[in-house]
Amino acid sequence: MKPVYILAIESSCDETAAAVVKNGREVLSSIISSQIDLHTIYGGVVPEIASRKHIEKINPVITEALQQADIRLEEIDAVAVTCGPGLVGSLLVGVSAAKAIAYAVKKPLIGVHHIEGHVSANYISHPELEPPFMSLVVSGGHSHIVVVKDYGEYEIIGRTHDDAAGEAFDKVARAIGLGYPGGPKIDKLAREGNRFAIAFPRAHIEGCPYDYSFSGVKSAVLNYLNQQEMKGEDVNKADVAASFQEAVVDVLATKAAAAANAFGYDKIALAGGVACNTALRAKMEEICSSERIKLYYPEPILCTDNAAMIGAAGYYEYIKGVTHGWDLNAVPNLKLGEKI
Ligand code: KG4
Ligand code: ZN
Repeated sequence: MKPVYILAIESSCDETAAAVVKNGREVLSSIISSQIDLHTIYGGVVPEIASRKHIEKINPVITEALQQADIRLEEIDAVAVTCGPGLVGSLLVGVSAAKAIAYAVKKPLIGVHHIEGHVSANYISHPELEPPFMSLVVSGGHSHIVVVKDYGEYEIIGRTHDDAAGEAFDKVARAIGLGYPGGPKIDKLAREGNRFAIAFPRAHIEGCPYDYSFSGVKSAVLNYLNQQEMKGEDVNKADVAASFQEAVVDVLATKAAAAANAFGYDKIALAGGVACNTALRAKMEEICSSERIKLYYPEPILCTDNAAMIGAAGYYEYIKGVTHGWDLNAVPNLKLGEKI
């Protein structure tokens, strides 16, 4: 069968990314231009700066992706782009670029849900993985337990009631003076600390066994820091980082495994930026091996925002015949499974 080449574009937050993906699972190129350095001084992503930077970077990044893949635009079968959720100004840059290219070379345009992309990163790292399976999607904006029924078919069975897991990592990192983005910094510092030093709370929500809440643990850390300051006592930052991380990954892993068991799935795929977290991976390995659940996670560079994952998701839409019109828009609060 003739191979299918997808040019994929991602610009939903602070990474400008383009990739060329062959048959949904083989990455021919994946270029990521990160804006982290620009936003660090503000302690988080500044939407206006992000969209301006995307405009500067989008064309060079796409050109580089095509060059590295050694492919011409005319040889591409379709253009896939993240159309939501995310920052509207950032999304619009990618969507407009994708539309312009698709129109110019007369190729189909495919809008992709960002979270569907994160889940699909697992198809790249694990060529044997096929639905159905359970996915734990943990990023800066999402904490979901999702049943992947088929390619592009999802059912959300657990969600956060307040902060996303990555958001909690970022806020706690800021509170202990680690800076943005906090997840990787807490992950690193926690290795030097004692995860049992401070007992931070694990939230269990009455009647919602697979839902999450991270605002309580975040507040508990802030309270702990205030109390120590008022008492004039030193804070062991590594212990705070390790104990906070332990509280978060404990509840993430326990509920994901419980959901897989309750719904009868023996495969769990981690997805999203927080899936890089070494403690989460270790905790999931531990629980999954004792519960006889097979665990999958993408390599770190495919966990955080990238366009290769959008190419993987876009491929499965393409082979189903799903394409979108020139009226494709950026939808900042697009729900998973909502018709694009
Ligand atoms: O998926 P992603 O790149 O962007 C969103 O779609 O949100 O995720 C970014 C989030 C940030 O909150 C970042 O702090 C977190 O993922 N993150 C981590 C780690 N690496 C990235 N959190 C915990 N441990 C990590 N190693
Ligand atoms: Zn993301």
